[in-house]
Amino acid sequence: MMYRLMAALKRPLVHLFYRFPPAGLEPERLGVYLNGLVDRAHLSGDVAEIGCNIGGTAVLASTALRHMGWTGTYICYDTFSGFVQDQFDVDAGLGTPRNRSRMFAANSVALARTLLRFHGCEDVKLVKGDVTATSPQDLSPSYSAILLDIDLSEPTYLALKMFWPRVCSGGAIYVDDCCEESIWKARLGYERFRAESGLPTTYKAGLGILYKE
Ligand SMILES: C[S@@+](CC[C@H](N)C(=O)[O-])C[C@H]1O[C@@H](n2cnc3c(N)ncnc32)[C@H](O)[C@@H]1O
Repeated sequence: MMYRLMAALKRPLVHLFYRFPPAGLEPERLGVYLNGLVDRAHLSGDVAEIGCNIGGTAVLASTALRHMGWTGTYICYDTFSGFVQDQFDVDAGLGTPRNRSRMFAANSVALARTLLRFHGCEDVKLVKGDVTATSPQDLSPSYSAILLDIDLSEPTYLALKMFWPRVCSGGAIYVDDCCEESIWKARLGYERFRAESGLPTTYKAGLGILYKE
């Protein structure tokens, strides 16, 4: 209730709080991701950002793609209310501080939509819910690039299983929070999926990357 109220209070102030898009990626990772998008702008396929928070990176990424003449759909998947408690508890057992459990809770589809509209990105599609339970009708048949940024080990692994088969030839998935020393355990999900699938390991600036031939 309190978090919903906080999200509602932020909405009319988007133009003051978020005059510049609030990207949640570290600058070097944002650079790697945007570079990957620009390199793939010629591929026909949609782009997914799994874990978009209020959409700061989505503003930058979708705008860069449009400037490159890309005509796909930029699709953001998020609960828009923070972590799924059971999923967070698994990682809390692995060392993620419990006080982070409500970190992204003060959010809503309406807040993200307001931010996207303010920055001229009305065409970004928002899909609300636990990504591991996404209905097939909300999945694209083809993604040229995906940013997977949901921090936790289990949903990262499950999302990779769900989305990897839909990545087109030449496409890539970028998984955030894959550095060795991190409070976040996404790297475990990345490593588990990568090992099971027999794919090579690629780490760059703390992102775990999977490339499709
Ligand atoms: C680090 S933030 C994303 C930051 C964003 N990519 C950016 O660059 O601004 C992590 C997001 O993952 C979302 N999230 C966590 N677990 C999720 C799940 N199982 N399904 C969907 N979204 C989830 C949270 O709600 C939160 O908004």
